[in-house]
Amino acid sequence: MDKLVINGQVPLHGEVTISGSKNAAVAILPAALLANDVVVLENVPNIADTKNLVQIMRDMNVEVEYLDEHTLRIDSRNLTNNCADSEGIRKMRASYYFLGVLLGRFGHARVAFPGGCDFGVRPIDLHIKGFEALGAVVSTKAIIEMKADQLIGTNIFLDFASVGATINIMLAAVMARGTTVIENAAKEPHVVDTASFLNSMGADVKGAGTDTIRIRGVRRLHGSEYAIIPDQIEAGTYMVASAVTGGDVMIRNVIPRHMDSISAKLREIGIRVIDGDECIRVIGKNCRMKPIKVKTAPYPGFPTDMQPQMMVLLSRIQGTSMVNESVWDNRFRYVEQLKKLGASIDVEGHIAIIEGVEKLCGTEVQASDLRAGAAMVLAGLSSEGTTTITNIDYIERGYEDMVTKLKNLGAQIERISDRDPKLRVLGRSAG
Ligand code: EPZ
Repeated sequence: MDKLVINGQVPLHGEVTISGSKNAAVAILPAALLANDVVVLENVPNIADTKNLVQIMRDMNVEVEYLDEHTLRIDSRNLTNNCADSEGIRKMRASYYFLGVLLGRFGHARVAFPGGCDFGVRPIDLHIKGFEALGAVVSTKAIIEMKADQLIGTNIFLDFASVGATINIMLAAVMARGTTVIENAAKEPHVVDTASFLNSMGADVKGAGTDTIRIRGVRRLHGSEYAIIPDQIEAGTYMVASAVTGGDVMIRNVIPRHMDSISAKLREIGIRVIDGDECIRVIGKNCRMKPIKVKTAPYPGFPTDMQPQMMVLLSRIQGTSMVNESVWDNRFRYVEQLKKLGASIDVEGHIAIIEGVEKLCGTEVQASDLRAGAAMVLAGLSSEGTTTITNIDYIERGYEDMVTKLKNLGAQIERISDRDPKLRVLGRSAG
């Protein structure tokens, strides 16, 4: 079991370049199978989730080649298999996108139930409702199986602006007969990026990024060469890293307008945030920070995937702050780990009340999911002494080269295996 060991309270300085968006990539990689052709994808983040998807596709007899660390050539002309039930499917939640893709391509899909981060119930009823509305007969026994002689365009209203359901319905609808309208659609940057990718393959998707997406079915899709957008949440994580360490960091390869809600909250706290063309500078040093209220919401609201990271910053600001998690029903499990470092946080249902503390003190903590793991790293960077983080596989599912990127910003962070004698030297008080 490898661990991260961090000696905290080092202000971060310098530049960091953001990788491709995980949540766009996990939709776009499977979506490439809709075209019975060759697709080249650029700016693919080199993370565990994308490597897992490559393996799932290879298990389905799809030719996938790395042209370089971040560029994939996907040739699905030999794909005849409408079944995706390899081990990899159970390792992540976004494997559910194979449902929309295989139904859209073959009119028949058999996919194992997805896995993914555990923060409460994670249903896919809205996905199923969309597929049934398009004419599929769905059974959810040992695996999820869906069949349709012909998918027919229709109007679908989503009870919640679900990212996954919006994308999955788009994937199934692009080659349906007629027009599909998705009302109350999710508007996240990765939803828009997936729609743009589908259109690059000859689909006819309009309105992505608004509440209403219209999809005119086409007969077939062709190959494409496409570059994935930068990762909004990775960028936000490094913005908070600069704020919480009192640093001065230039974050490159971002789309600033994607960061608006995060930038607005950091400015409300008193952090200096300076937008550039494709970069954002965040200056945490010499800032008088004040407590605030944060409510997570679908885009363009404050992203739920930034909630744990923001919690770390609020725990270091004198006064009383509040976080309202309105998207997931149980996304505060990581708070117990922050309390081990000395944070003062009370959780009541969807609400967390934070009393800022003078300092956090390093100890051993564990990552309980991807973004909670990122929060533990931020907490370690901000804590006095040494913090050791276990279960770091979670973090590596969604952050490319985090240790290298943080070291280049001056952080004292090491990834070491627990068999490595260095652990006893580096993390003397790691416990
Ligand atoms: C996507 O998950 C992201 N994952 C999540 O990011 C993110 O937290 C979430 O969107 C919200 O922004 C990927 O894109 C791979 P949802 P998804 O469907 O699609 C309820 C990360 O850290 N719901 O928008 O699964 C659900 O219970 C991950 O990168 C239903 O009730 O999220 C939740 O309360 C973690 N029925 C809300 O909607 C459904 O069929 C939001 O879910 C689907 C969802």
